[in-house]
Amino acid sequence: MNENGDGIQVVEADDIEEAIRAGVSGPLPAALPVLPLKDAVAYPDTLTPLAVGQERSIKLVDHALGGERMLVLVTSRDPELDEPGPEDLHEIGVVGVVARMIKIPDGTMRILVQATERVRIADYVTEKPYLVARIEALPDEVSPSPELEALTRNVQRTFSEIIEQIPYLPEELQLAVTNIDDPSALSNLIAGALRIPTAEKQELLEEVDVGRRLRRLSELLARELEVIQLGSQIQSQVESEMEKGQREYYLREQLKAIQHELGEEDETQAEVNELRERITAAELPEEAQKAADRELSRLERLPPAAAEYGVIRTYLEWLVELPWSKETTDDLDIAHAREVLDADHYDLEQVKDRILEYLAVRSLNPDSHGPILCFVGPPGVGKTSLGRSIARALGREFERISVGGVRDEAEIRGHRRTYIGAMPGTIIRALRDAGSRNPVFMIDEIDKMGADFRGDPSSAMLEVLDPAQNDGFRDHYLDLPFDLSEVLFIATANSLETIPGPLLDRMEVIQLAGYTADEKLHIAKRYLVPRQLAENGLRGAGVRFADPALRAIIDEYTREAGVRNLEREIGNVFRKLARQIAENKASRKRRPPKQTISAKRARELLGRRRVFSETRRRTKDAGVATGLAWTPVGGEVLFVEATAMPGSGRLTITGQLGEVMRESAQAALSWVRGHAAELNPELPSDWFAEHDLHVHVPAGAVPKDGPSAGVAMATALSSLISDRPISPETAMTGEVTLTGQVLPVGGLKEKSLAALRAGIKRVILPDRNQGEILEIPEHERDGLEFVYVDRVEQALAAAIDGYASRSRV
Ligand SMILES: Nc1ncnc2c1ncn2[C@@H]1O[C@H](COP(=O)(O)OP(=O)(O)O)[C@@H](O)[C@H]1O
Ligand SMILES: [Mg+2]
Repeated sequence: MNENGDGIQVVEADDIEEAIRAGVSGPLPAALPVLPLKDAVAYPDTLTPLAVGQERSIKLVDHALGGERMLVLVTSRDPELDEPGPEDLHEIGVVGVVARMIKIPDGTMRILVQATERVRIADYVTEKPYLVARIEALPDEVSPSPELEALTRNVQRTFSEIIEQIPYLPEELQLAVTNIDDPSALSNLIAGALRIPTAEKQELLEEVDVGRRLRRLSELLARELEVIQLGSQIQSQVESEMEKGQREYYLREQLKAIQHELGEEDETQAEVNELRERITAAELPEEAQKAADRELSRLERLPPAAAEYGVIRTYLEWLVELPWSKETTDDLDIAHAREVLDADHYDLEQVKDRILEYLAVRSLNPDSHGPILCFVGPPGVGKTSLGRSIARALGREFERISVGGVRDEAEIRGHRRTYIGAMPGTIIRALRDAGSRNPVFMIDEIDKMGADFRGDPSSAMLEVLDPAQNDGFRDHYLDLPFDLSEVLFIATANSLETIPGPLLDRMEVIQLAGYTADEKLHIAKRYLVPRQLAENGLRGAGVRFADPALRAIIDEYTREAGVRNLEREIGNVFRKLARQIAENKASRKRRPPKQTISAKRARELLGRRRVFSETRRRTKDAGVATGLAWTPVGGEVLFVEATAMPGSGRLTITGQLGEVMRESAQAALSWVRGHAAELNPELPSDWFAEHDLHVHVPAGAVPKDGPSAGVAMATALSSLISDRPISPETAMTGEVTLTGQVLPVGGLKEKSLAALRAGIKRVILPDRNQGEILEIPEHERDGLEFVYVDRVEQALAAAIDGYASRSRV
């Protein structure tokens, strides 16, 4: 025993060789101390290093060292057990000699055991102070055969291969393995060296038949080899990736060095610096600032050629271009607002009043984010231009988007950044264009979105327009909350019917009707003509319109509720004039004299008349009645043509009519058949049985549905069977029941404007609609006579010449 400087005692067998030889060759002692192994298996003919820490084990080793140095190593079935008893241990283990022992200062020891042979434990003699068992030898069974030899060689070869590839196996094993021909010794050596699960190791130890043991071993080795090869394949892939990355890195560093030599600034760094400045200037809210910082530092670390680089840069550019904290100061002077609205728009008194009230409320309480305004009316009546005026009056920016036909939520809310080519949605894009966070923001065609799509874009719109939640509007692309609560939203629509209910609930609706011809004339003179002069470079050229010229355009070249086409035709006239003037100049003719455009000149310039008053032409024949319809683009006149031909009593209805309108044709016919005798006493009683009737409603483009053509249908059929025409300047609207009652209908204002445009003088309409007619400003119904009825007979009396003379009303 000697002691080194660290206080570590080393005990060695005085003559290890001798001790081992004694242990191996001497007779096996009847009983030996048993040292349990926790997670290892010792094989005969191998050296096993062990750490010994438990008190009973230390005692055991101490005693053994004092005597024959022999002990039994047996593996515990459960590696977690601290002090396994006899029943916890496998029955088969090895006998060994302690060849070397080192005592560590912490009281534990390391021993090296030379195992000699396999034994079976017969029974335990005692368990205190350590386990002692009676044992019996369990030698290998070997029957030499060519097969065994082949197995031996196979195992040798496979293991050599494995040694080359496994770092934990020492190279010297190679030599050992090739030198050992004895199958028993070889299998023990290899089994001891392999890192396989303890249970498998124990199985190998328990296998007495050497042939079988080698076979099992060769299986295990084959498996091991496969795992190693797979592992190295993965490894080499990883390495080549790393090499590529490194290569790129070096090239890039070289590039930087070259650029530096050439005095060129590092592109990335320059860009990053610029973006950083812009981020600071943008005064982002906290969350956006964090996102910007994060993205910027990612950008810094990327090569500009990386796809990711462009994506991040685009994102950052969006971020800095948004008006996070830029806003305009409102001009809340109501008198000024009035001036602006008046300067931009003719009349519209009620509408202007409501707008001013709305602005007044906002100016009294700037924090109130009242309802969203919604302008509803036919095209060209000034919805958009009112929005512009409001912005001008308040001193705000103006932005306009159209959501008509939008089917996809992403158009409003953007695509997530993981999409290739992703962009923010239309809301955020418009705000960027506005350049301030409190613009007047017009959302056009909000009724078309609801009609085209079910749910999704309108739910995004709901979030945008809801003052309760739009201060944290989240665009998918930005993925940051943006405060929309300072935005003044105005929606526009042609029809209320197709606006989704929840959206409508949040809006204050302001209706705009179409214009009469007189109003159009005024608007043209005061607004459209001056604007078109300027736009066509004719201001100061001394060109003006005579009133009859404008009237001619209104009546003969446009048929619309608003003034959009009127403005376009005025522009047309000016463009043609401008061209003539320019051509004259080019041919060095003298400057054209100042000119006033007459109706004749306007017709010359615009060419063939485009709109005809169809009323007179069509209603010369019996069976044709003029109805009035409401459509989203304004009121329309519509003709109901009834004809009869020999047949068998069938009714044909054409003109692409909706279901409700077809039913009302049926109802009208039923009433007319029931009253045929009164309508025409000379009509043969079998007339209906011998004729087919055809009801047609021409003018294909107008959507035709609803019950309001009932009166017109009944009148057309009555006119047909009594063979008396309907007076051409009379139009009618109203629903008819089977009993001949006339029920009220909607859209009276637009309908009466359409009647005026079509040159109608008299309108027959339901009694119960009288109130609505009286609400229309007088000048807008000037020149129209209204006949109120509540029975079909009254309508017929008013419409059909000579009807009243023949029947009671
Ligand atoms: N009452 C009005 N006074 C002056 N100009 C008008 C009036 N109504 C419409 N306009 C003009 O008619 C054109 C079409 O109007 P716009 O606002 O685009 O209609 P909408 O948005 O309702 O379809 C615009 O040039 C507008 O200025
Ligand atoms: Mg518009």
